[in-house]
Amino acid sequence: MDERTIKEIERRRTFAIISHPDAGKTTLTEKLLLYGGAIQSAGSVKGKQSDKHAVSDWMELEKQRGISVTSSVMQFRYNGYCINILDTPGHQDFSEDTYRTLMAADSAVMVIDAAKGIEPQTRKLFHVCAKRGIPIFTFINKMDREARDPFDLLDELEREFGIGTYPMNWPISCGVTFKGVFDRRARCIHTFDNFHGGRGKLNTIACDITETEKLDALIGENLREELCEQVELLDGASFDFDEEKIAKGKLSPVFFGSALNNFGVEDFLAAFLEMTSSPLSRKTIDDTEVTPFDEGFSAFVFKIQANMNKAHRDRIAFLRICSGKFERGEEYFHIQGKRPIKLSQPQQMMAQEREGVEEAFAGDIIGVFDPGIFSIGDTVCAKNRKVTYSGIPTFAPEHFAMVEQIDSMKRKQFAKGMDQIAKEGAIRMFFEPGAGMERVVVGVIGMLQYDVLKFRMESEYGVKYIQRELPFQYIQRIDNEDVDVAKLNLTSDTRVVVDVQGKYYLLFTGQWSIKWATDNNPGLVLVDFDHM
Ligand code: G4P
Repeated sequence: MDERTIKEIERRRTFAIISHPDAGKTTLTEKLLLYGGAIQSAGSVKGKQSDKHAVSDWMELEKQRGISVTSSVMQFRYNGYCINILDTPGHQDFSEDTYRTLMAADSAVMVIDAAKGIEPQTRKLFHVCAKRGIPIFTFINKMDREARDPFDLLDELEREFGIGTYPMNWPISCGVTFKGVFDRRARCIHTFDNFHGGRGKLNTIACDITETEKLDALIGENLREELCEQVELLDGASFDFDEEKIAKGKLSPVFFGSALNNFGVEDFLAAFLEMTSSPLSRKTIDDTEVTPFDEGFSAFVFKIQANMNKAHRDRIAFLRICSGKFERGEEYFHIQGKRPIKLSQPQQMMAQEREGVEEAFAGDIIGVFDPGIFSIGDTVCAKNRKVTYSGIPTFAPEHFAMVEQIDSMKRKQFAKGMDQIAKEGAIRMFFEPGAGMERVVVGVIGMLQYDVLKFRMESEYGVKYIQRELPFQYIQRIDNEDVDVAKLNLTSDTRVVVDVQGKYYLLFTGQWSIKWATDNNPGLVLVDFDHM
């Protein structure tokens, strides 16, 4: 591998940013982009009182609901690093999408609202994150507002997530009396100045914690005393800083700050870059490790997104490059398609802009035009060095609904829309054995996915349909070959469905019916949906 490629890979940092909606993920992303000079002014990503929306919010529905449904990728440079931020949908209903995105990241940043702490959504997202075993960095945001006790917040993180925390800095009060933070490594104070918010460096005063007089002048005697006490307590009682534990996702460095006020963001970025590694190795299906520096391009598809741009009606597959270098125009090999391909219209997101790319390196994410050949988890690699990455595990749907088309003139559009949206992994689609395409059973993890489906079917395919919720909660796949589903002895509230590939599944309303099915059908083998 040539030296330039090695250097390029070494300076890559690829991370996912996760949070409960409204914790400040968009604001933090915006500030990070500002530091990288990728955007010119605050508010370009999401403007206050304006109808500009986050660069990552592509869909109309997201704007209406104020949630980020889809996730996007942004690249920027800072201090010699080339940083890829993978945005994730904040809502737990899209946690599978978050999981796929995490598969493409080498670390995660979790944004938490200091007044709220861990919210249900964050909890689910975190568990998704922990499954990947990647380093997790925590940014406790909105310290300029009334916040919960910082010890409580850390305690909650440790208790709920079962990992250690290491506060990198410590807040001095909060809300109207927020004075700044104490940097535990540099042993100095960064004062909070409420009147910036622009792109430049913060106007902070550094002051050692032992400089009592200077400190008193800065933050007052009471806060100084409180701070000294707390820092002493922290130094004595909290986890030690341990880079190995951080790398394994067992210890989360925690930063307190205020994204909106640009406070603590640059320090966070600098510390984060220092503590995270360049792109990590990936495992193939036969358990061999491919390092980013292995000769030969390889990548996997972690996301497929249709119609990102209304003007283009396109479908884009997002690939995480795992090794080597991508070159435009080069012929590669699509493992699952079993054929050579040229990846057409390769592009990267630079803030608001989609830009064509000539080359990209391990660690990078590229979007390529997908003529309908890719599925999530597919591998694309060099023709002479074939590897196959392990697929991306799927989550079992938890809600089911019957979706039936209304207008028989639009059968084709209905089938096409459902099929494409299912291929993107945005829903799971099943059929009743023997039934046609005019009605399908749609499985989702969160109910909001139904809203997205309805919205997209109407706006992209011009199709309206009737939806009836079904009472099922569990799904199991029938693992037997040649099973005669008509002959199965099942409870009256169990239903058989089949997927596009002809695999049979049973839908159950309760655990009891699952037991009935296995007890009353000797030889029947049922497997969990998410272990396939
Ligand atoms: P999200 O992407 O995680 O959903 O959150 P987002 O950044 O959109 O932030 C949610 C709200 O919280 C926004 O206010 C944002 O301005 C505010 N916010 C973010 N960081 C801070 C902070 O450090 N301090 C304070 N006080 N507020 C913060 P909004 O009124 O909902 O939206 P907007 O009108 O500001 O766009």
